[in-house]
Amino acid sequence: MRLNANVSRLSALMLSIAALATPVFVAATQSLPPEVAQRQQDMKAMAEAAKSINAMFKGSSPYDAKRFKGAAETIRSTSGTALSSLFDGTVTAPGSKASASIETERQQFDKLAFDLSAYAAALSAAADHNPETLGPRMRMQAGDAAVGGGPLAKKVDPARDAAAMPAEHAFHLMLQTCTSCHAKFRVESK
Ligand code: HEC
Repeated sequence: MRLNANVSRLSALMLSIAALATPVFVAATQSLPPEVAQRQQDMKAMAEAAKSINAMFKGSSPYDAKRFKGAAETIRSTSGTALSSLFDGTVTAPGSKASASIETERQQFDKLAFDLSAYAAALSAAADHNPETLGPRMRMQAGDAAVGGGPLAKKVDPARDAAAMPAEHAFHLMLQTCTSCHAKFRVESK
């Protein structure tokens, strides 16, 4: 039951990622500062990578450890310092949806960027450990849902815990990291 609830939450997250990927017409007609254009491009690449991993978990595309790892590596190499450094200079700019609060709550922003890389690294390693099939060891178990979400959840430290959890759970928490950062640091419209 719990697992199903989580799966539908996951689909909702994926839908919101799909919605995010719609082109921003404002951006197309303005010349953006290079780091803004770069971070928007990186974000789109992460959304594509997350979609491809999601399709393999859902079974709508066949599991391929190389592609799974490639997508995880796209996110890993685009997160952490690579992500946060693209917000070092220009934070707010016309055509950007970055919130000014990134400057004032920098630590929290950077932590979310690093959490993302810890989950992506765990997914990348899971592909190495599972070269043939996306088997039960990669799947979320009933009870995993209690970790990381909800008021009674144990507090997760991704740097410490991500590698030990089933890949599907790490993926789920990774998407929550995308959503948390957007909720806090991305403005809806400008
Ligand atoms: C640490 C914060 C943070 C994390 C984590 C994060 N994002 Fe973002 N994302 C942003 C910010 C800020 C913007 C707005 C950037 C701008 O317009 O300058 C954004 C924008 C986007 C966009 C719109 C890009 C465009 O075309 O303008 C997409 C798509 C996106 N993110 C997907 C993702 C996905 C998928 C993940 C997780 C795998 C993710 N993001 C994780 C902060 C984050």
